[in-house]
Amino acid sequence: MKSVNQETRARYDDLPYSSFAYQYSAPEQLAAVASLFGLPSGEVATARVLELGCGSGGNLIPIALRHPRCSVVGVDISGVQVAEGKASVERLGLDNVVLIEADLLDLDTSALGEFDYIIAHGLYSWVPPEVQDAILRLIARSLAPEGVAYVSYNTYPGWKTKEIVRDAMRMHGGTRPTVDEQVGYGRSMLNFLKQTALPGGLTAAAVDECTPSIMNGPVDYVAHEYLAPHNRPCYFYEFVERTGAHGLAYLGEAQPSMMLPSNYSQELAEQLYGALGGDQVRVEQYLDFAVSRVFRQTLVVHAKRAQDLRWELDRKTLHGMHFAANLSATDGAIRLDGQLQDFVAPPNRASIGASLSGLKQAMDALARAWPGTVTREDMIRHATLTQGENDPVPPEILSEAVDELCERLALRGMAQVRLAPVEATGPSDQPVVDPVARRQVAALPPEKKHVANAWHDTVELTDIDRLLIPLMDGSLDRNGLAAATAAAMREGRLASAPADDIETQAAARVTDMLQRLARSALLLRHTAQ
Ligand SMILES: C[S@@+](CC[C@H](N)C(=O)[O-])C[C@H]1O[C@@H](n2cnc3c(N)ncnc32)[C@H](O)[C@@H]1O
Repeated sequence: MKSVNQETRARYDDLPYSSFAYQYSAPEQLAAVASLFGLPSGEVATARVLELGCGSGGNLIPIALRHPRCSVVGVDISGVQVAEGKASVERLGLDNVVLIEADLLDLDTSALGEFDYIIAHGLYSWVPPEVQDAILRLIARSLAPEGVAYVSYNTYPGWKTKEIVRDAMRMHGGTRPTVDEQVGYGRSMLNFLKQTALPGGLTAAAVDECTPSIMNGPVDYVAHEYLAPHNRPCYFYEFVERTGAHGLAYLGEAQPSMMLPSNYSQELAEQLYGALGGDQVRVEQYLDFAVSRVFRQTLVVHAKRAQDLRWELDRKTLHGMHFAANLSATDGAIRLDGQLQDFVAPPNRASIGASLSGLKQAMDALARAWPGTVTREDMIRHATLTQGENDPVPPEILSEAVDELCERLALRGMAQVRLAPVEATGPSDQPVVDPVARRQVAALPPEKKHVANAWHDTVELTDIDRLLIPLMDGSLDRNGLAAATAAAMREGRLASAPADDIETQAAARVTDMLQRLARSALLLRHTAQ
């Protein structure tokens, strides 16, 4: 086994995996999902967080930055990646991050203590069975009594098709001496299959499905997903059985909308619940067959907590929670005329219909706050103040309608839900960038261009973002930002179009940038102190 893991270490040392923040692995998300299903979990602001297979810390370090009273520990076998992570921690001046270079098979868990949240993203199905077992053992031992662990993995049946492509790529390129060559040969195998696979056959379908990510994806992703020796998908029910053998129980998916057949088709939901009743794991496994699921982000807790778990949502748990949804009416502006309008939140296909003007205004409160959050109480307040005069709604009916709205938003995946507010807002005249993002940008090496936002989502920065974000503490207004942009253009630090109206160009670029930063949840609701 040692030699297998040494090979893994060498692969990741030679070709480090791009390390980003993944929003569904955020402790804030784990806490919200646990709460939705009736389980309390550790206070995020002061939590102990462990990440297994943390790479260079792109997912872990932003958690430590957002929560200075958190204490975070990351473990990875690749010395090169851990060294890169340690350099980032030093540049950021963080004292709440410990990164450990170790093989999970040898890790002394007793020295680590207990953790409120344990994250294993992109690890479980990319290691041999012994290490898979070690991951679950480690989670069972190191998870605090009220802890929540996140494990992502490739799943069957979706990966059965993708394995045709992976097997072919590995057969053609897997033994080439360098990873770059392996990827080159692998891609040429895909091209060969593209030209030769019989139309309408399984191989042609697999090629169609995999082509965009293999041809356009970064080399490190293609190498580790399609050419590495280990990529061992499993069925969801097998994963749940394995966690059960370690004294852990299924809590839910980090994206709860994936758990509900009704989000895919009402007929499917009726058939599955009719045949399988309340067996949630079987319902979801059958759903995975129906939708050909390829990937899961599953949350587990200690098995003894399973008795307190309820997948049937109690609407009272939504009171006091914080919701963000980019809702809009499909037919334009909201009309307070008692007529039915459909509301959607991109990129989700789901919609919510509303005719009550109070309910429409509750959705308007969400739309105005997006990408920041509002509570159910905020929605009711806004609706009460602004609902149409011709269509007033008694308070108890409004309250019930907003409860139902919150439940639908949460379960259909149309809103992000948190236990604490996310203070993001739209462009203003005196714009302020989240200080956590400002710190990340200030410490970013020139070759890197990603930061994590308040939703723990990865945002790609452009040149003007890198130039202006460090200045955006609220002390410069739009004119000041445009002046800084124009100066950078004149001095050649920022590209400009070959025209003499640098000032006009700069002002337009600032406007465009502010809209983009707002959509990326990097602008703060409050001005800086
Ligand atoms: C696909 S990468 C994912 C990295 C990161 N979690 C992410 O999603 O960006 C898998 C990571 O697991 C680490 N790894 C693989 N086997 C390991 C082992 N036996 N012990 C510790 N880390 C391991 C690799 O070095 C690599 O950084």
